[in-house]
This record gives sequence, structure tokens and C-alpha cells, in this order.
Amino acid sequence: MLKKKMLKALNEHINAEMYSSYLYLAMEAYFHSISLKGFAAWMRAQVQEELKHAMKFYDYVSERGGNVTLGGIAKPETSWSSPLAVFEAVLKHEEHVTSLINDLVDLAISEKDHATNNFLQWFVSEQVEEEASVSEILEKLKLIKGDTSGLFMVDAELGKRVFTIPASTAG
Ligand code: FEO
Repeated sequence: MLKKKMLKALNEHINAEMYSSYLYLAMEAYFHSISLKGFAAWMRAQVQEELKHAMKFYDYVSERGGNVTLGGIAKPETSWSSPLAVFEAVLKHEEHVTSLINDLVDLAISEKDHATNNFLQWFVSEQVEEEASVSEILEKLKLIKGDTSGLFMVDAELGKRVFTIPASTAG
């Protein structure tokens, strides 16, 4: 059974992952609005990945006999000045999510909740990957400095991304 403090924090984190999904959905819409379909497709995969993250927390809370309590999802930003500005915002957001995961780990340790700590370790690794892939795209966007042909090349590359359910979370 989850302790009260841990349950509350995990429920809050379901909301944080749902918000991430919603934010990336807004970014997908932005990319559609400027006809960058590859960037939009990349964001769609990100939307699905964040939903999967939220569901992992949801299922974990249920599995531990806790009640899932859902709150309202905040309104995300809906416009950005450039693709570069979007990816700067994505990196900032992912760094924020990493700090939330780290806070959850700290809480699990202080509550001596080894099972939750173990559950969270998947997310610790996932955040390293997320920040690395976003940083890579951000660096490319900085290099091309808004050059149209460079932007179309990145668009074509990002369009190849397909959402696949990670093996550890399939089923
Ligand atoms: Fe679910 Fe991108 O962190």
C-alpha cells in the first residue's frame, strides 16, 4: 500500500505527464500551422510517448492499491516565434520533468518506499534519453540558424520518427 504523501505525489505526476502530452500537442498544431509536417509528426510521437508515461504512473498507482485522482490540465502555450523557440521550450520542459522525477525519487527514498524507487528508475533513464534527443535537435536548429533548406532537411529527418511502445512498457 502506498503511503499518503507518496500517493499524492504520484497522482500529481500523472497530471504533469498529461500536461507534457498536451503541451506537445499544442506544438504539433504550431508545426502544422507553418507547414512543417515532419516536425509535426515528431511531436505526435512525443504526444503519444507522454500519454504512455502518464499511463505507466496511473497503472502503478492502481497496482499498489492507491486511488487515482485526476486534476485539471493547465492550458499550454500555443504559439512560438520559430522552430528553434519550440525546441528551446521542449528542452526547458524536459529539464523540469527530470527535476520532478528526481523529487519523486527523493521522496520514495525518504519514505523508504523501495518499490516506488525501483519503478521510478525507468523514468530516470528515460529522462536522460529525452534530454539527449531534444538537445541534438536543438543543436541542429542552432546550426542552421533558420536557413530554409536546412529546416526542410531537419523536417524530413524528424518525419521519419515513429512512435513505438518501449518493450518494458508494452502490454
Ligand atoms: Fe514524460 Fe518527456 O517526460
